[in-house]
Amino acid sequence: MQPILPPFPATRLRRMRRSPALRDLAQEHRLSVKDLIWPIFITDVAGADVEVSSMPGVFRHTLEGAVKAAEEAAKLGIPALCLFPFTDPAEKTEGCEMAWNPENISNRVIRAIKREVPEIAVMTDIALDPYNANGHDGLVRDGEILNDETVECLVKMGLAQAEAGADILGPSDMMDGRIAALREALEGAGHQGVTILSYAAKYASAFYGPFRDAVGASGALKGDKKTYQMNPGNSDEALRLVARDLAEGADMVMVKPGMPYLDIVRRVKDAFGVPTYAYQVSGEYAMLMAAVKNGWLDHDKVMMESLIGFRRAGCDGVLTYFAPAAAKLLSA
Ligand code: PBG
Repeated sequence: MQPILPPFPATRLRRMRRSPALRDLAQEHRLSVKDLIWPIFITDVAGADVEVSSMPGVFRHTLEGAVKAAEEAAKLGIPALCLFPFTDPAEKTEGCEMAWNPENISNRVIRAIKREVPEIAVMTDIALDPYNANGHDGLVRDGEILNDETVECLVKMGLAQAEAGADILGPSDMMDGRIAALREALEGAGHQGVTILSYAAKYASAFYGPFRDAVGASGALKGDKKTYQMNPGNSDEALRLVARDLAEGADMVMVKPGMPYLDIVRRVKDAFGVPTYAYQVSGEYAMLMAAVKNGWLDHDKVMMESLIGFRRAGCDGVLTYFAPAAAKLLSA
């Protein structure tokens, strides 16, 4: 679409920027509290419910704290929480068995939130890293990240989460074939209504560093995740991954990280027109907060500017650690 642009002075684009009222009327994209998914860290390790040092303002929650966070989300109008467990190193094994234990911290928190604050949609993380002795998202044998054997584990993990009452399953593992396997298992087990938000285009990124501290995976991780997560130099491949995951039964797709990958969001939204999300990951939060702490950036302004960027790029919603702060500002 080519805009009709008569020559100056008939066209003065500054006219529509003259006042807040005119700027409001001309605004193309908006951020609503309804666009936010709030990722929270949960733990039942004694004494671990503290602030994450590289993520000021972000805490690891106990089960009770997680229910309180859900109540806060409900009060603020945030539609969904996403749970990430910090686990006891003693629970981490090569076989990752704890990942599909109905009594693991994630499954207990899902049940507690769905009992106490049922209107909040609970999203999960499906990947083996919180329970893996070597910190990888998949099973490891002789230094190789196994695909098909990992998918079998992911299916067990997803089914346990669905059984606990999860509304949105979030496979973040980047194994091939996991969406089809999960969808088939969900249908077979009577969980037709459980949605899948696939981390379809997830890059092997250095911006996940603070998250790995938050979930206690940094020390455990041997090597990197480049054989399963995407090469930051690729763009067309993201479209193939999204097409593949949609064909296998994903309801929604995600691009991750967020700010350095908004070009991918735009391509995905334009190509598929499906519910599209991005994750403003831990490192993005950490770098903004570090500058804020130094007095170099204005917290509220950079938070809102970064979030409207996601909407402008085509996101239907954003996973962000800023969710409660942004929600408070939006409802002020
Ligand atoms: C693990 C997972 C990661 C994140 C979400 N799920 C880290 C990783 O892939 O190593 C990162 C989120 C963030 O950095 O905020 N499957």
